[in-house]
Amino acid sequence: MDLIALIEQAERTHELTKEQIIALLNNAAINETLFAAADRVRRLYVGDEVHLRGLIEFSNTCGQNCLYCGLRRDNENVVRYHLKPDEIVALAEKAKEYGYQTVVLQSGESHVYSLVEMTEVIRRIKALGLAITLSVGEKETAEYQAYKIAGADRYLLRIETTDRELYRNMDPDMSWENRRRCLADLKQLGFEVGTGCLVGLPGQTVESLAEDILFFKEIDADMIGIGPFIPNPDTPLSKEKGGDFTLSLKVMALVRLLLPDVNIPATTAMESLKENGRILALQSGANVVMPNVTEGDYRRFYALYPGKICVNDTPGHCRMCISGKIEGMGRKVAADQGFRRKSS
Ligand code: 5AD
Ligand code: SF4
Ligand code: FES
Repeated sequence: MDLIALIEQAERTHELTKEQIIALLNNAAINETLFAAADRVRRLYVGDEVHLRGLIEFSNTCGQNCLYCGLRRDNENVVRYHLKPDEIVALAEKAKEYGYQTVVLQSGESHVYSLVEMTEVIRRIKALGLAITLSVGEKETAEYQAYKIAGADRYLLRIETTDRELYRNMDPDMSWENRRRCLADLKQLGFEVGTGCLVGLPGQTVESLAEDILFFKEIDADMIGIGPFIPNPDTPLSKEKGGDFTLSLKVMALVRLLLPDVNIPATTAMESLKENGRILALQSGANVVMPNVTEGDYRRFYALYPGKICVNDTPGHCRMCISGKIEGMGRKVAADQGFRRKSS
C-alpha cells in the first residue's frame, strides 16, 4: 500500500477503510505528511480562526468509578467540592468578561445538583448571551431534554473507546450501550454532540482506535476530543504505561481527514503530556482550545490525571497565554460562538 498516496486520497475524499487507518497508525514514516494534510483540511473547512471555550469545572464529585480517572468515587485522596449555583453563574460572567463566547460546564457524574438547579444555572448563563456546552455525564432522556429547553447548546460525552470489552474493564458499573443511547438522545434533541476517546488505555489496540475514528463518522459527531491516557497514581491504573503523544496526534489528524468540518479541540491532556502539545495539535487538525476559567484551589482538586497544566494559573493568565500562543502561530481567536458549519 502506498501510504502517501492514501493520505492524498483521504485529503480529497475524506474516506478511509479500517484497514487503511490501521496501516497509517502503524507507520511512523508518514507522520509529518499526515499532520500536514490534516492541517490543510482544517484550513480549508474551518479556517484559521481558533474557537475558545471557557471551561468551568464546577464539581469534582463523581458516583462512577472509571479505572483511569482521579475523580473516581473510590479515590479518597481528592478534596471534593461543588460550587453553588451562584458561584457557577459568577464564573460564567467572568468568562464573558475575558471575552469567551462559550462556556463548558463540566463536572463528575453525580446527583449533587437537582434538575431544577441545573436548568436554572443554564437559563441564567444563557441570559448572559453565552453559548453553553454541558459535560456532566450520562443522564435520562428527559433530563437532556430539560437542559436543551433551558438553553444548553452542546454536550460533551466521550465514548472513551468503542471496544466493548475494554469499556467493560475500564468503566465497571457502566454500560457502553447506555452511553451510546445518550449520544443518540443528544443528537436527536438537537444538541451539537461532542464525543471522543482516550488513546493508550491498557489493552487498547490500534484496530480499536481505527474503529473509534469510524464510529465518530458513523454517528456524525459535531466535536471530537482525543486525549492520551495519563496514569493517575491514585487509581488502579497507576502502574500502567499511559498513552503516546504522537499516536494521539495521529488519531486526531485522521479524525480531521475523515470529518473535515467538525470542531476538534487541542486537548489539555495533550499539553499535559508534552510541552506545546496544544500548538502541535492546532497544527495537525485542531481548531478549538478550552482554557480553564475555574478559580483557585478547585483547579488542582479537579485532578483527572497528574501533571494537568494551568493548575496554579489564574483565568486571566490563561486567557492571555492562549491568545499569545494562537497569534504567535499566525492564527487568530475567533469572534463568533463557533458552531459547526456543516459542509454538506
Ligand atoms: N488521562 C487522560 N484523560 C482522562 N480522562 C479521565 N481520566 C483521564 C486520565 N487519567 C478524560 C476522560 C473523560 C474526560 C473528562 O477526561 O476521557 O471523558
Ligand atoms: Fe467520573 Fe467522568 Fe472520571 Fe468516570 S471519567 S470517574 S464518570 S469524572
Ligand atoms: Fe493556562 Fe497557558 S493556558 S497557563
